[in-house]
Amino acid sequence: MRPFVFVNLAMSADGKISTVERRQVRISGQADRERVDRLKAEADAILIGIGTVLADNPSLTVKSEALKEDRHRRGLDENPVRVVIDSRARTPFEADILHKGPGRRIIAVTESANHEKVSTLRKWAEVISAGEKEVDLATVLEMLWERGIRRLMVEGGGTLIGALMREHLVDELYTYVGNLVIGGSGAPTPADGPGFTKEEEFVRLTLLEITSLDQGVLIRWKVQ
Ligand SMILES: NC(=O)c1ccc[n+]([C@@H]2O[C@H](COP(=O)([O-])OP(=O)(O)OC[C@H]3O[C@@H](n4cnc5c(N)ncnc54)[C@H](OP(=O)(O)O)[C@@H]3O)[C@@H](O)[C@H]2O)c1
Repeated sequence: MRPFVFVNLAMSADGKISTVERRQVRISGQADRERVDRLKAEADAILIGIGTVLADNPSLTVKSEALKEDRHRRGLDENPVRVVIDSRARTPFEADILHKGPGRRIIAVTESANHEKVSTLRKWAEVISAGEKEVDLATVLEMLWERGIRRLMVEGGGTLIGALMREHLVDELYTYVGNLVIGGSGAPTPADGPGFTKEEEFVRLTLLEITSLDQGVLIRWKVQ
């Protein structure tokens, strides 16, 4: 068994999720940030790749006081469990995700991860191991299910989302399309990695909802 998995991402009008230097960009406005905060507060856990930790150093905490209080009322930690996919245990010891805000953290590594780094990360997070060289994502999702996680939000980046799509591990996708062009053929996109070459491998989506938000558009898709 695995949790319900939904991806939330923001991309420019030309389909980029950051710049060629992998610099974080503000793609959406206040209303969209509040929507993302609500999605976070409703999730049991939030998953990101080590590439995003290294590029953006996000804390992934719930920002709204009202949403934090609501989680407390429901008997939950203030923040959802924060999970990093990190084969080689490269999460910096000072990363915000390990220190900002209360709540559980899980770092998913592989058998080949450096033992010293793993034991240091255990000061702040539960470290789980799945896979030999690359994290086995299906196994991690099963392990999250065993830990009571039923609703999992994926916050990027492109490589992790591409891999989850390839392994058919995504149920829904929220794409916010912002009113800017970032450009650059090497700039990250929503589903990076090797991609698909055969039409029968393409991930097909069903359109659920379109909403105009800030100066852009929010599209909610169901993965077929
Ligand atoms: N606009 C948005 O919504 C948004 C959201 C998030 C991020 N971003 C942007 O996305 C960029 C970062 O994305 P990214 O693609 O470089 O990194 P990423 O997707 O966050 O992380 C990818 C890394 O995860 C690790 N990994 C371990 N097992 C894996 C598996 N089975 N499949 C895939 N990856 C696995 C790999 O590193 P190891 O092998 O070392 O573990 C891989 O390089 C940044 O520029 C950030 O600003 C944008």
